[in-house]
Amino acid sequence: MSFTRIVTAASYLPALVVDNDQLSAIMDTSDEWIYTRTGIKRRHLATDQNTSDLALEVAKKLLANSQLDPADLDLIVVATMSPDAATPSTAAIIQGKLGAKNAAAFDISAACSGFVYALDLADKMLADGQKSLVLGAEVLSKLLDWGDRSTAVLFGDGAGGVLLSKDADQPHFLASQLKTYGDKADELSAGITSPRPFPGQQHDYSYFQMNGRAVYTFATHQVPQSIVETARKAGVELGAIDAFLLHQANARIIKQVAKRLDQPLDKFPVNITECGNTSAASEAILLDECLAKGMVKKGQTIMLAGFGGGLTTGSLLVKL
Ligand code: ACO
Repeated sequence: MSFTRIVTAASYLPALVVDNDQLSAIMDTSDEWIYTRTGIKRRHLATDQNTSDLALEVAKKLLANSQLDPADLDLIVVATMSPDAATPSTAAIIQGKLGAKNAAAFDISAACSGFVYALDLADKMLADGQKSLVLGAEVLSKLLDWGDRSTAVLFGDGAGGVLLSKDADQPHFLASQLKTYGDKADELSAGITSPRPFPGQQHDYSYFQMNGRAVYTFATHQVPQSIVETARKAGVELGAIDAFLLHQANARIIKQVAKRLDQPLDKFPVNITECGNTSAASEAILLDECLAKGMVKKGQTIMLAGFGGGLTTGSLLVKL
């Protein structure tokens, strides 16, 4: 019997960077408002690239890092709330462009918890010796109304991911917990399409809508609980966890979670200042950056914790 391990990580951010002052020029907001409430200074935005294009760049890097052939892949899972299309899935587009002919490919939708959901799923799906790409990719700017300052300033575009291989002789995925609070579904929504009664042509479509206060309260209560319960499942003390890689939604949420867990803030790396909220991509991008900068290292134990639309939470304790 073998166990899943993370072989390598990668990320990709589109070239255009838009800072808070540039947003202030087109809407009634300010760098001061955005930074003090969220920790965001700037975000990357896709111009002529769609979600699969960003994810494909990550997939290519992962294969190059691990010197694998696309045909070696058994599974491709993409977590996204901004797919190119309802069908084909973003993962199928990538599978085709890579020529990963032996890989089953599909998307999952769990918003900002999506990357953790996808990792947990892939771990459980892989048979001994199999390999998978697990990607989080978003072009959230497609879902933004640039006339709505309450959401437009929060989000960014990007992609990240990991290559998993089920070939380890000891467990690396130590424990997980996925939770969904469908009774709170209306607190955060985007891309809702209405039914189209025969023979109508009109289609209603909604941009991001969020009850920011409700999501804030949800995150600052449910995320610490999810982390504590996941660590307890694995029999690991919080103090023994080297880093907590939280979904990058708001720097204040991250500070509050650290406080509730009574853990030092320097164990909670952030990149929201540079990237904004990239939903399912955020923890994947952060993981790649932390590995590249030596902020987390092979052999360390890290907690990935996502939260967002659904509403959902997902925590995963991983030994790198
Ligand atoms: N610039 C200036 N003023 C603004 C802006 C803006 N961009 N946006 C809103 N305001 C105004 C409001 O109109 C309001 O004005 P009023 O008092 O005159 O009515 C005032 O600022 C306060 O607005 P609130 O919405 O109450 O601001 P709050 O302090 O709650 O901060 C925020 C808003 C940052 C969104 C916060 O609630 C938050 O971070 N919530 C969590 C969001 C989150 O984590 N989402 C993650 C999930 S995303 C996902 O899953 C895809």
